[in-house]
Amino acid sequence: FNDVMSYSYEIIKEIADYLLEKTSIRPKIGVICGSGLNSLADFLTQTDAFPYESIPHFPISTVEGHVGRMVFGYLEGVPVMCMQGRFHYYEGYPLSKCSMPVRVMKLVGCTHLLATNAAGGLNTKFKVGDIMLVRDHVNMMGLAGNSPLQGPNDPRFGPRFPPMTNAYDKELIKIAKKISVEMGIEKNIHQGVYTCLGGPNYETVAELRMLRTLGVDAVGMSTVHEVITARHCDLTVFAFSLITNKCPSDYDSDEDEANHEEVVSVGKQRQNLCAELMCKMVRAINES
Ligand code: 6GU
Repeated sequence: FNDVMSYSYEIIKEIADYLLEKTSIRPKIGVICGSGLNSLADFLTQTDAFPYESIPHFPISTVEGHVGRMVFGYLEGVPVMCMQGRFHYYEGYPLSKCSMPVRVMKLVGCTHLLATNAAGGLNTKFKVGDIMLVRDHVNMMGLAGNSPLQGPNDPRFGPRFPPMTNAYDKELIKIAKKISVEMGIEKNIHQGVYTCLGGPNYETVAELRMLRTLGVDAVGMSTVHEVITARHCDLTVFAFSLITNKCPSDYDSDEDEANHEEVVSVGKQRQNLCAELMCKMVRAINES
């Protein structure tokens, strides 16, 4: 567990203090942008941006379609910090390293985490370009014995055995539904269960059938460990998935095979819509 140990409370504090010293912005909301959804950060004003390689102890994000920087600024007048590019398990980092920035958000002073991702749609009602508000998750990696919280627990972050039955804030989901009606996109908004797999390969047909049987509506390669880390340190969480492709359920399905180019391209097509939803959520959280 050397990697787990390498992010002690003191190290996370050092990262948070470094950022707080370099910016006068005091974020209340931490935002993580999913694949193709980085343009949200372009809506920020009075920004202070920190490339990951400039932040002490930060890993460097390696995926195409992701830049790697932490942007502080104001969204709808609300102070936020926004990760443009996240760390994925398939890059080779342990889960605790992937979700380390969430603890930085906590020590910087955030009370909320807003996370987005690109995901494959398993629920047959979902269309490409739809948004799924995450109601719950199935932690496949956790069920297989892998967790960002493995190793010694530091109670300054949270309890050894944190509950996960209310991981995704109900009130924020209600607010998001209301906002989607106001935006006139309620037909494209769903609620459902997300799961994160290790990747980087996409799933076989048998795996997709299994996930559907388990009650999973959308599948991706992120977010779950970030949410677990956020709930452990008592951040309020809201997350949504942009459905970038439909998952086939049989071998002679007409769906194209999942591919990263399509995922990023659907992200780009829908990024303004996703950014608008995010902006309105930020404003609603600030007013709540
Ligand atoms: Cl189909 N699977 C996974 N694991 N991640 C995805 C995806 C599918 N589509 C977008 N991201």
